[in-house]
Amino acid sequence: MKQGLAAALSGLLLGCTDAARAPPPEAAPPPQPVALDVYRGSAVAQQVCVQCHDIGIKGVLPSTRVNAPGFPEVANRGGMTAEQLKQWMRTTHPIMPTFMFNDNAVGDLAAYIMSLRRPD
Ligand code: HEC
Repeated sequence: MKQGLAAALSGLLLGCTDAARAPPPEAAPPPQPVALDVYRGSAVAQQVCVQCHDIGIKGVLPSTRVNAPGFPEVANRGGMTAEQLKQWMRTTHPIMPTFMFNDNAVGDLAAYIMSLRRPD
């Protein structure tokens, strides 16, 4: 019984030293360079939003001049969050049509726009 406890304790301690040596699995680099939601959001942006917005892809320009703010500019505005973007996409606006996206598409688009934010 005592020995069992000692073994369990040393196992715990070993576990700790192992953890200190190797980074935890969460810290490992992601298998893909781009998160799935960002990737999907970028696809929608290239199909729909690019009509009016600079979507932050080099060489891809909006086809309509409606004075829509560029996504890189929006993403880098101080204090901008994905939550604010989602809220914006769910409400109506003077010029921009209100898109009937489901919550996933809105989340994907917000993730894509926020991916254009430069690290502080
Ligand atoms: C028909 C043109 C048009 C299309 C298409 C369009 N937008 Fe816009 N968008 C605008 C305009 C114009 C504004 C400026 C505000 C306004 O007048 O509605 C705007 C503003 C925005 C803003 C707010 C930026 C800010 O200043 O905070 C966001 C976010 C946005 N658009 C996202 C999108 C996304 C995502 C798509 C694609 C799903 C999209 N837009 C497609 C015209 C468009």
